[in-house]
Amino acid sequence: MASGDDAPNVAVLGTTGRWDPDQYVRFRDERAQPFYDLAALVRRHPGMRVVDLGCGPGELTRWLHVELQAGETLGLDRSPEMLAAAAAHAGGGVRFERGDIVEFAASGGHGPYDLIFSNAALQWVSGHATLLPQLRSMLAPGGQLAIQVPFGGDHPARSVLGEVAAAEPYASAMQGYRRPGGAQPPDWYATRLYELGASEQVVRMNVYGHLLPSARSLVEWFKGSALTPYRERLPEEMYGALVEAYARRLVEQFGDDRPYFLPFNRILMWARWES
Ligand SMILES: C[S@@+](CC[C@H](N)C(=O)[O-])C[C@H]1O[C@@H](n2cnc3c(N)ncnc32)[C@H](O)[C@@H]1O
Repeated sequence: MASGDDAPNVAVLGTTGRWDPDQYVRFRDERAQPFYDLAALVRRHPGMRVVDLGCGPGELTRWLHVELQAGETLGLDRSPEMLAAAAAHAGGGVRFERGDIVEFAASGGHGPYDLIFSNAALQWVSGHATLLPQLRSMLAPGGQLAIQVPFGGDHPARSVLGEVAAAEPYASAMQGYRRPGGAQPPDWYATRLYELGASEQVVRMNVYGHLLPSARSLVEWFKGSALTPYRERLPEEMYGALVEAYARRLVEQFGDDRPYFLPFNRILMWARWES
């Protein structure tokens, strides 16, 4: 796992915002389960002021708002495509705003919040050692932080993607861009939360087993996430060639087993501060 990239300053890693909501929701149930598991860690108080960082297409943000009986919930995302999809879920105390997590956190993000929630988004932001104190400072007394990040950098399917993208002609076309791993190991987060004075915390790693139709379907899975930065940086034809090359390498590496079992590691963390 390339987890040693905790830059001193918070910076956006992979994506400039061209997410594809349709591709993302192709594995809707698989991607939603960690969201529900993270929400289950949250202590419920009706009327909370909530922000969902990197909210994506908004359906789950709305679910969270209703589930928690929140007073108001803001979904923040930098992707216009995701926000266009999210618009259908606004209203009744839920609103969506375009913004970058980095800038939002650095500016105090119109806090305080009773809950800062983020599912599968902060892996796109490096510098978690800077980001976590910023988020903590945006919390009201009794405030909670709930974050889920994939911890998948060491999965062979990711390494293969990294190798394919590091080859020519892609490397030159992307000026040597390589997507760094955005998440730190679970004990790193537990220590940071302790140092930030959390009154209570839970940090754990869950392995989500996903049954995909075949190894080749890993391409479809990653088109909704890890392939996004390459799609943004490459001309359309070259991106298509990269996806094909990736699919071929996956079949070489994993064979053509049907179905294909994908074990996916995710870190779930929750903390609460008395004051
Ligand atoms: C994998 S999706 C997760 C969406 C949603 N939280 C969910 O659980 O379904 C990641 C989302 O984070 C957003 N994102 C990534 N980097 C971001 C940043 N720096 N600022 C704001 N949003 C960001 C992307 O646009 C995308 O919608």
